[in-house]
Amino acid sequence: MRASDLEQDFDRVLFTQEQVEARVAEVAAQIDADYEGRDILMVGVLNGAVMTLADLCRSMRSHMTMDWMAVSSYGAGTKSSGVVRILKDLSGDIEGKDVLIVEDIIDTGLTLSYLVQNLRSRGPKSLEIMAMFRKPEALTSPVDVRYVGFDIPNEFVVGYGLDYAGRYRNLTDVATLAPHVYA
Ligand code: PRP
Repeated sequence: MRASDLEQDFDRVLFTQEQVEARVAEVAAQIDADYEGRDILMVGVLNGAVMTLADLCRSMRSHMTMDWMAVSSYGAGTKSSGVVRILKDLSGDIEGKDVLIVEDIIDTGLTLSYLVQNLRSRGPKSLEIMAMFRKPEALTSPVDVRYVGFDIPNEFVVGYGLDYAGRYRNLTDVATLAPHVYA
């Protein structure tokens, strides 16, 4: 779905599909250069990272394998509790591997802070983070992110994996949601 297919739902397009594709290719080239000759285990965080991981790994020339985790923040109905629950753990072992966590967005940073701590305890050879989007203004838990697609404003942003009530993940552009949608 393009933003033009559902114009009334969006306020403004932050990045077009073409800009997203171009940025993904740039980050993929950076990763290829950094990991030259090494196999990368890409760990996607469900659900939002599906698009990013799928596109990123296909733009890369390095060998890679993938695994997935699903986590949920809970407590007071928001992410702010900092309590993260594992809904689906990795299928395989990461000990001694070069692990790259792939996320769609870093908002407060709580999810990734937890994940880094959790995965580090499993003894990977290296552990880095790629996040497609980051909201610098919302960050409360500092996370060391090696690769960032785009910094975005602290607004309701959807598309390319980012959802509102489960919808709009399949929007190929990235846009701010019109207030009437969530009012
Ligand atoms: C989103 C996103 C990150 C997290 C970031 O997940 O995918 O995992 O929120 O927020 P934080 O930096 O404040 O922790 P969400 O729980 O919305 O699930 P989803 O991936 O299925 O959309």
